[in-house]
Amino acid sequence: MYLDKIKKIKDLDFKNKKVLLRTDFNVPLDKNGSIQDDFRIKESLKTIKHLFSKGASQVIIMSHLGRPQGFDKKYSMNVIRDKLIKLTAKRIVKLDTLVDLEEIMPNSAEAKIVLLENLRFYEGEQNNDDDFAKSLSKVADVYVNDAFGVCHRKHSSVHAITRYLPSCIGLLVEKELSIFENMLESPNRPFYAIIGGSKLETKIPVIQNLVHKVDKLFLGGGMIFTFYKVQGYSIGKSLYDKNNKVMAKMMLNNEKIILPKDVIIADDKDEPSQFLSVTIDKIPSYMMGLDIGDESLSYMIKEMKDAETIVWNGPIGYYENPLFAKATITLLKELAKSKAKVIIGGGDTSFIVERLNLKNDFYHVSTGGGASLKLLEGTGLVALDVLIK
Ligand code: 3PG
Repeated sequence: MYLDKIKKIKDLDFKNKKVLLRTDFNVPLDKNGSIQDDFRIKESLKTIKHLFSKGASQVIIMSHLGRPQGFDKKYSMNVIRDKLIKLTAKRIVKLDTLVDLEEIMPNSAEAKIVLLENLRFYEGEQNNDDDFAKSLSKVADVYVNDAFGVCHRKHSSVHAITRYLPSCIGLLVEKELSIFENMLESPNRPFYAIIGGSKLETKIPVIQNLVHKVDKLFLGGGMIFTFYKVQGYSIGKSLYDKNNKVMAKMMLNNEKIILPKDVIIADDKDEPSQFLSVTIDKIPSYMMGLDIGDESLSYMIKEMKDAETIVWNGPIGYYENPLFAKATITLLKELAKSKAKVIIGGGDTSFIVERLNLKNDFYHVSTGGGASLKLLEGTGLVALDVLIK
């Protein structure tokens, strides 16, 4: 087990120590800059509390927010500070710069919780720069990585930093790893996977790994049209990944892989003037597939009834347009009532669950998109490899 080998909070001493805590507070913001979904913030609160219970004298929190190119007011951590104050009811001191950090850092008597400015305002972060990591490390005695969503990135605050401080993972990373490992290594069966999304290329390694572990693997989303095309069907204007057609053809030989038999098609994905439900052999040249049809949706719902474990990654339709979100939403609502252990594998799917207010109805909703994808692919996470004992 990967998790067994990684250093955890219980392996380090926190008594009177200043702790540098990397979180993934990269939350979605609306056009006014307000937080749309604070799930990731809430999920790291336990670690902050736990560190104080272990005797930490100060917790210095750092995260990235968005993908800014240098300083960008829109992505300042002020909005995170305000949310943290609301959620913890504690005083939080936020620093506006990471320059001369040692000099501006308040001591633990002045501030128990400090929040640093957006790491991605500094190019050292994404370059995994040693000097950047060193300057961060100078303000603390111990480092904790609780940023599960960033563990697939080789960035300074999750990778290089571990060279300069005694380091371990936090409770959220531990929980995520433990759930994914148990699911993949000893699931209760039947074990089914639902893999959606538009980019076949990114899902191929996941399908290849999961197909050996699950009893059935249901495909949905824009990527399914490549599978139809290689079977000789006309797919009209639907997504087609020519570069992966050979791989798609090979995968079709595996009888665990199940494709929808009917789909919802339209003439435009954003402003359709017509849309209808057809079997997959009836897609006209001027239309594109955007959701799973009712017959296939009912079939999936029925099949899921006997499952003991289900993992879902990626929407099964073009959910950005409510006209094509029906299959994704209906299936999520059904699974929320299921007796099975349902694990929602991060990214867009977790975001939809949060929007539907169904988070507490599932066994686990992951905080990591790309990171959970890597675990489903069966590969390690680059930022955790450096924390192996
Ligand atoms: C995420 O949202 O998946 C993580 O915060 C990583 O963000 P990134 O994809 O911009 O590296």
